[in-house]
Amino acid sequence: TKLVGLVGWRGMVGSVLMQRMTEEKDFDHIEPLFFSTSNAGGKAPAQAKNETTLQNAFDIEALKRCDIILTAQGGDYTKEVFPKLREAGWKGDWIDAASSLRMADDAIIVLDPVNKPVIKDAMARGIKNWIGGNCTVSCMLMGVGALFKADLVEWMTSTTYQAASGGGAQHMRELLTQFGTLNAEVKSLLDDPAGAILEIDRKILAKQHALTAEETKNFLVPLAGNLIPWIDSDLGDGTSREEWKGGAETNKILGRGAGFGSEATPIDSICVRIGAMRCHSQALTIKLKKDVPLAEIEDMIRNDNAWVKVVPNTKEASIRDLTPAATTGTLTIPVGRLRKMALGPQYLGAFTVGDQLLWGAAEPLRRMLRILIE
Ligand code: HSE
Repeated sequence: TKLVGLVGWRGMVGSVLMQRMTEEKDFDHIEPLFFSTSNAGGKAPAQAKNETTLQNAFDIEALKRCDIILTAQGGDYTKEVFPKLREAGWKGDWIDAASSLRMADDAIIVLDPVNKPVIKDAMARGIKNWIGGNCTVSCMLMGVGALFKADLVEWMTSTTYQAASGGGAQHMRELLTQFGTLNAEVKSLLDDPAGAILEIDRKILAKQHALTAEETKNFLVPLAGNLIPWIDSDLGDGTSREEWKGGAETNKILGRGAGFGSEATPIDSICVRIGAMRCHSQALTIKLKKDVPLAEIEDMIRNDNAWVKVVPNTKEASIRDLTPAATTGTLTIPVGRLRKMALGPQYLGAFTVGDQLLWGAAEPLRRMLRILIE
């Protein structure tokens, strides 16, 4: 039985990971060793078996005992601990949710329903660093990966509708607090069916502009009743880091070079934060290499993996099944609004949704663990 170190299991991604590992009985196949950055010596959670004491997550000797380390502790932890651990001669497998190591040559971005051959090839080559992809990228590839596998994509653009959870737990709280503040501002006018809508609107706008620094600490501006057309840092060339990841990571996952090289498929996007809780959605425009009938495209998408679900391109099905509210908490990746666009028969429109804490974060990691202990 492999000794598996778990770090960052208490945070939001870590908690979803623990829940999924418990549901899938992953703990039956490993000996877990729980680490903590703040409570070493404390009691490990109920999933512990023989190792019931929390270890210090900065203790290189303790970490070195592990055959595999699975961390959702975040990028700063990875940057501090990972190099020291490798320098100390640790040869185990490192599975990480953070982006710090993603684009390194000796790291693979793991999303096995899409890139199992890439993972298997890397294992055979002795690669030991397995990093979860950006949530938007992973959810998109779980949806329309079939078209990339069939080498049908000439280029793709995406407009994203990303949930508050992508920023973290505090961002989700901030969104809800803002909604509450705005509602309270106009509650009496809303309760009166004759309350004038333009008066309500004026008060909401004034309140959005008057939100305090505390109420906009995480997003910096209002998100409730608003949207934010920039995610992650400014790369200084007009793109955001989130947008850069879309092209770079998609190609790396597919094993097509690490970015915009000659083998790479051009992919670009505009990434937008909206007031959803934990599902990222994306509107895609795909230029196909040839005119493939829509029914064939739907079949390819539908048959690609066990989680993708083609939603009929009707109003009724789209508003019911192709939304964050329908998808949250499930592993289902709905893909809908599939149609040939007015631009021409090689231009495919699509819309897809995914829970960014499940396929976007926790699920590829626990599946990688299972691949390593198979
Ligand atoms: N960068 C993503 C977001 C989350 O902010 O939505 C993690 O990949």
